[in-house]
Amino acid sequence: MTGPILEAIGLGKTFQVRGRNLRAVDDVSFALHPGETLGVVGESGCGKTTLGRMVLRLTEPTDGVLRFQGNDVTHLPDPLLRPLRRDLQAVFQDPFSSLNPRWRVRDIVGEPLRNLGWSQDRIAERVADVLAIVGLREDALSRYPHAFSGGQRQRIGIARALAPGPKVIVCDEAVSALDVSIQAQVLNLLADIQAQFDLVLLFISHNLAVVRHVSHRVLVMYLGQTVEVAEEAALFERPLHPYTAALIAAVPDPDPALARPPVVLEGEIPSPFDPPTGCRFHTRCPIAGDRCRVEQPSLIAVEPGRLVRCHFPGQYQAEGSRP
Ligand SMILES: Nc1ncnc2c1ncn2[C@@H]1O[C@H](COP(=O)(O)OP(=O)(O)OP(=O)(O)O)[C@@H](O)[C@H]1O
Ligand code: SF4
Ligand SMILES: [Mg+2]
Repeated sequence: MTGPILEAIGLGKTFQVRGRNLRAVDDVSFALHPGETLGVVGESGCGKTTLGRMVLRLTEPTDGVLRFQGNDVTHLPDPLLRPLRRDLQAVFQDPFSSLNPRWRVRDIVGEPLRNLGWSQDRIAERVADVLAIVGLREDALSRYPHAFSGGQRQRIGIARALAPGPKVIVCDEAVSALDVSIQAQVLNLLADIQAQFDLVLLFISHNLAVVRHVSHRVLVMYLGQTVEVAEEAALFERPLHPYTAALIAAVPDPDPALARPPVVLEGEIPSPFDPPTGCRFHTRCPIAGDRCRVEQPSLIAVEPGRLVRCHFPGQYQAEGSRP
């Protein structure tokens, strides 16, 4: 097996907000090989977007190391980042918010190629190819984004990300604004493209059902930290961190007979300016004990390919939260 395309080692970001430190991402690590999709999930404000922006090098990390194809790119200055921009692409919730609404689809999808200095002919050919890949007809080329449905707009966004032939695509809440039926179509498209082009996908969403649909592995975040990482099937079958268990229990089950009892998360998400002592989750954890309030749990490999940050991994379900 070749080495990882993308590697994060103890990646962290502290923002300075009015003279105070806000630890948005704290010590997150992963290694992704071609053809792998890592889902990143957690509640609002847990640091998902900041993590994605660090991977894209739109935000410079304050701690840790980011490697792309084995090279340290953590603090590369802008001019040296340029060749990397082609390989690292993104699909956001609203892919055109930062673009001129007077641009036609051909300009939107072709823009990253113009920035790379491609010839007009080559751009036209590539734009037609990627539009076909995402399932849009050629007559889309001369239309404006507002003429399309949300799902089609997201296909255009995916075409734009795909155009330069990247190795990594970061999807940040890429389907969150779409109707559930449309979500599934776009997720299937992303999964197909990911497999077809052997891409690394970092798939970020607050919605665990959506993350599950496309991910091989899932990283669960709470207040900037990784609390659990596992293969998708193992995570859903047997969540070992109480927070993961709570997120899973909150996903509506299509078969009510199989529905799990709700796990109620008490209290508010604590302030990231002042995270709780000990285990950051202890203020909301249904099984928190004295030890949890004083001793911060480390992220421990409890099984091959499985990391959990909890003093009592698996305990929650062992105590009978599931039938
Ligand atoms: N540029 C910034 N300056 C200061 N604080 C920031 C900045 N960007 C994010 N934050 C803070 O960092 C923390 C993590 O934010 P982030 O946007 O990464 O979370 P998220 O998991 O993507 O949330 P959501 O699900 O709402 O998109 C939050 O407390 C947020 O307020
Ligand atoms: S360490 Fe304690 S508080 Fe934290 S998740 Fe585990 S049981 Fe809950
Ligand atoms: Mg976000």
